[in-house]
Amino acid sequence: MKMNIRTETAADYEQVAKVLFHAFGDREDESELVKKIRKSATFVPELSLVAERDHEILGHILLSKAEVVDEGSSHEVIALAPLAVSPDHQKQGIGRRLIQEGLERCQKLGLDLVLLIGHPEYYPKFGFKPARPYGLELKQFDVPDDVFMVCELQDGALNRIKGELRYPRVFLE
Ligand SMILES: CC(C)(COP(=O)(O)OP(=O)(O)OC[C@H]1O[C@@H](n2cnc3c(N)ncnc32)[C@H](O)[C@@H]1OP(=O)(O)O)[C@@H](O)C(=O)NCCC(=O)NCCS
Repeated sequence: MKMNIRTETAADYEQVAKVLFHAFGDREDESELVKKIRKSATFVPELSLVAERDHEILGHILLSKAEVVDEGSSHEVIALAPLAVSPDHQKQGIGRRLIQEGLERCQKLGLDLVLLIGHPEYYPKFGFKPARPYGLELKQFDVPDDVFMVCELQDGALNRIKGELRYPRVFLE
């Protein structure tokens, strides 16, 4: 049966939690993060996506609101986190489909930038590049330059938007 990428519903929460648990080395941190984001004002329901085949959830991606702050002005951006594919189904293109659909939806919503902290050898395939050379900063997490990445969704957005990425509080708890 064909794999389908669709908006997550409440009926998927349990299966999504299992995918996150196993994808992140049998730890609950990421499923706890997703639970908190779903309840927060930064949650955009149509940007929580699942990959489903045969009524089984095989992957999940969450894109939610964050801000880039520059001398008192604030610009709404999107943070991608987390992305997870069930360990038995990795390297089959499921992560790719989830990212592509997620970015397309963000672009249609008129959003400018998607930022993330992630594998530097994975995300550049999808248009992500190191964010710091564009004047984007990250102070909340102490991470190497190459893992803090940005994807530009509207022409010129990276020229216009500079400053510090601030993840919502739920990411810091
Ligand atoms: C990272 C993850 C989401 C990738 O999902 P996936 O469905 O296996 O990825 P895809 O099959 O769509 O891979 C797309 C491409 O990336 C490559 N790729 C997959 N995992 C990769 C990795 N960890 N590092 C580098 N390249 C990778 C694939 O070979 C493929 O390349 P190709 O298109 O040139 O053939 C998945 O491995 C996962 O859930 N990992 C554990 C949780 C995690 O680390 N999440 C990301 C946090 S930043």
